[in-house]
Amino acid sequence: MTIILTLETTCDETAAALVTDGLEVLGSVIASQEKLHEKYGGVVPEVASRVHLEQILPVIDSVLVEAGIKLNAIDAIAVANMPGLAGSLLVGLSAAKSLAVATGKPLIAINHLQAHIYACKISSGVDPFPCLGLIISGGHTSIYYCADPIDFVFLGGTIDDAVGEAFDKVAAMLNLPYPGGPSIQKAAANGNPQAYNFPRSLLGEPDRASFSFSGLKTAVRYRLAGAGKKINPAEASAELSQAEIADIAASFQEAAVDCLVGKTLQVMARNNVDTLCVGGGAAANSRFRTKIKEATQKNNYRLFIAPTNLCTDNAVMGAIAVERYKKGLFENLDLDIFPGLIR
Ligand code: KG4
Ligand code: ZN
Repeated sequence: MTIILTLETTCDETAAALVTDGLEVLGSVIASQEKLHEKYGGVVPEVASRVHLEQILPVIDSVLVEAGIKLNAIDAIAVANMPGLAGSLLVGLSAAKSLAVATGKPLIAINHLQAHIYACKISSGVDPFPCLGLIISGGHTSIYYCADPIDFVFLGGTIDDAVGEAFDKVAAMLNLPYPGGPSIQKAAANGNPQAYNFPRSLLGEPDRASFSFSGLKTAVRYRLAGAGKKINPAEASAELSQAEIADIAASFQEAAVDCLVGKTLQVMARNNVDTLCVGGGAAANSRFRTKIKEATQKNNYRLFIAPTNLCTDNAVMGAIAVERYKKGLFENLDLDIFPGLIR
């Protein structure tokens, strides 16, 4: 049995897992920084990297204790080195390189976006490749053609905000806590999704594999503060009743989900792909999960979507390193970080 230690520090979760070549999870630890970033309404990169530095070694220790495994029993060390926040990525990479030197075990690079899609294989136990990969998170809203776990071709993505970012920003306008996705989902549960007809951008252009959420965000702002007026939307929403907040949250969520589902189905049809894998934090959204299930079933497409705990950032999805291990795709100690979006 091969055991791989996987590290994840691309954004604001410090995570480590121990996984086997049979995709068995021997241990998984996540130290979230959510509470620290809450007061800023979003992740502050400098804060994130400093906290990763404090947490990375205790998190690695914890996962070894949880699994009852000694460091010298590990066969490889894998780390997400792309994409993500530069300072955060560097902490994980430095820790992984140090462990690789100390143990003499090979170093494996993880593409965080490929790992989000691989979560579908880990959770289902079925090989979904080749497939269309939809990644929806705080930093990404992108569609890839995934020939296999480590061969992705970028088909298109957002031309402005990522969908999770739009949830976070609209939540801030509605005075709902960070991260915005879960709090909008909670508020929306009591609201009417048809209360406001917010825009569903780019669905009228079926040949374009692009998303756009800034118009939707602006429409919510105008609903709260009026077009062109310089009123702070958060101050305006403080005057609203809980029922009105719930209606705005539900209508925003419905529009965002319609964009995600509608565009994805358009891209699947255009590229003749009948299998969809979805990953990333926003894939935890319950309305999205319901609507994408309905839409794929209606079209006889296969859908793979990880359980919610494997949608948000975690190190278990780093089990994608097994694919590289089997092919002997190891890295030298000059391995660098690649913070930018990969196309
Ligand atoms: O994948 P992730 O943990 O980190 C990134 O790589 O960005 O995704 C975090 C994002 C945040 O923007 C958060 O608001 C969003 O995922 N999110 C959700 C939900 N849970 C998390 N968005 C919508 N509905 C949710 N239930
Ligand atoms: Zn992520």
